[in-house]
Amino acid sequence: MKICNTKKDIRAVREEYRAQGASVGLVPTMGYLHDGHLELVRQARARCDRVIATIFVNPTQFGPNEDLSSYPSDLERDFAMLRIEGVDAVFVPAPQDMYLLGSETVVETKRLSRILIGRIRPGHFQGVTTVVTKLFNICQPDYAYFGEKDYQQLQVIKRMVRDLDVPVEIKGVPTVREADGLAMSSRNVMLTPQDRIAAVSLSRILTTAEEICGSHPVTAQNLSKLIRSSLEDEPCASVQSVDIRDAETLAPIRGRIDRSVVALLAVRFGAVLLIDQRILTPNPVHLQKA
Ligand code: PAJ
Repeated sequence: MKICNTKKDIRAVREEYRAQGASVGLVPTMGYLHDGHLELVRQARARCDRVIATIFVNPTQFGPNEDLSSYPSDLERDFAMLRIEGVDAVFVPAPQDMYLLGSETVVETKRLSRILIGRIRPGHFQGVTTVVTKLFNICQPDYAYFGEKDYQQLQVIKRMVRDLDVPVEIKGVPTVREADGLAMSSRNVMLTPQDRIAAVSLSRILTTAEEICGSHPVTAQNLSKLIRSSLEDEPCASVQSVDIRDAETLAPIRGRIDRSVVALLAVRFGAVLLIDQRILTPNPVHLQKA
């Protein structure tokens, strides 16, 4: 596995793959890898001739009071995991190489970046779309892999690629979970033992919501109220947002749920913001009766 610390080195590797006629899959990450990241790598490995992973804790997607400086890191462990998965090259740039002095150009989805998590974390998605565009331009992948875990991020990136005719195919990968249902996240290690137990409530409540939506006619308002009150029963949880949205545009849903929607949760445990999501599909029998 080649480790490239500069744009120049990874570009040379990309040129080599092009000369071989090899297809390239890209897996962008911020490191401190877990099985969720590795699932993206595995899917890329299964489809593409060459797999490039990137590890870069992107400063522009963190707000002034967020956890940039405490973001966990263990590069040697990450490299070992990527090697086992058969990654061909890993790009680990330094911040000053990624963002040259005087950088002033950004990429932003105007609506999608400002709703939902974008309201809680202003500027976050602009940082994501800008760095992902840069990674696409540097690595020029044929396919790029992103987790459904960060559902809004996936929709933002798909929209950006569509709107700007970026020549890459985006692949969404279902959320990988711990045995008890908690979505795997690099932030999980920052939870206190008590909060770690309480954090299971997100996936548990989403499963209940999925069952309700599949078995009863229900309005988006009632379902989100029910989810919120179940989360509030958890004493350590501070509910930031509960949203039922159109699965693709993330537009609000009003009234009876009559199509596939996504339920998006953002819940704080101490200083740690956890998110989870589930696609909810109504039972067709109820739709016919409606
Ligand atoms: P990071 O949080 O490191 O996540 C890298 C990728 O792994 C993202 O596409 C994310 O959705 C996916 N992922 C994380 N946990 C997952 C899980 N449990 N199951 C499946 N996929 C999972 O997301 C970012 O980094 C950054 O914003 C980035 C896209 C790299 C831009 O800086």
